[in-house]
Amino acid sequence: MFIDTHCHLSNEDYDDIDLIVKENLENNIEKIIISGCTRESILESLELSKKYDGVYVTIGYHPSEAKITTIEDISLLEKQIMEAKVVGIGEMGLDYHYGKEDIDLQQKLFREQMRLASKYNLPVVIHSRDATEDTIKILKEFPEVVGDIHCFSGSIETAKIYIKMGYKIGIGGVVTFKNSNLYKVVQEIGIENILLETDSPYLAPVPFRGKINSSKYIPIIAAKLAEILDISVEDVSNVTLSNTYALFDLK
Ligand code: NI
Repeated sequence: MFIDTHCHLSNEDYDDIDLIVKENLENNIEKIIISGCTRESILESLELSKKYDGVYVTIGYHPSEAKITTIEDISLLEKQIMEAKVVGIGEMGLDYHYGKEDIDLQQKLFREQMRLASKYNLPVVIHSRDATEDTIKILKEFPEVVGDIHCFSGSIETAKIYIKMGYKIGIGGVVTFKNSNLYKVVQEIGIENILLETDSPYLAPVPFRGKINSSKYIPIIAAKLAEILDISVEDVSNVTLSNTYALFDLK
């Protein structure tokens, strides 16, 4: 069995969510953790978690929302994280890929949500793009908080810094891409530091690259990790499940 620790499941991207949940079970996906990271997707993901047994959520504001997120949104988030199947905060973090004009707002939003994680003892799901140094700096201000570095794409050295801080490394479809060097990171950090994720609907693994992604493709990512690490798929399943349960409270 597997758990998809990070995906985005929304009516906007999929015609039939009932079918997606059914397909997941047929592909040994016992649970999925949806990330709601905008005002709308937070509400939608909370609804889905109430409707389906195996669906859990992490909620929080993505750095791309920094300019429009208000104090009221954060107060509401503080209430929303109390709901039954919320298992973490995020994805949140820093994204300097499209420029740094809102860098102060991004960092403020990131810190506010880290404070909530600390206050309520919840793990975080971190999005960091072209912002490694500042991400590490802010995470270090909250040494009591742990979490998942979602869709990791950095160097071996960076991965090791996060691991030392108590974080797990989220690996998805990119590891199957021909031009990706992520296999080197995987070899170095080992399965004991990895969480499986799809980040669907984005970043589908080969041979579905470029198509709409789904949690049902997790076994493809697991098979690739087994190949890279020269271990069995069963070992990948067992260890990543225990990593996931150690971080997220999936009752
Ligand atoms: Ni995501």
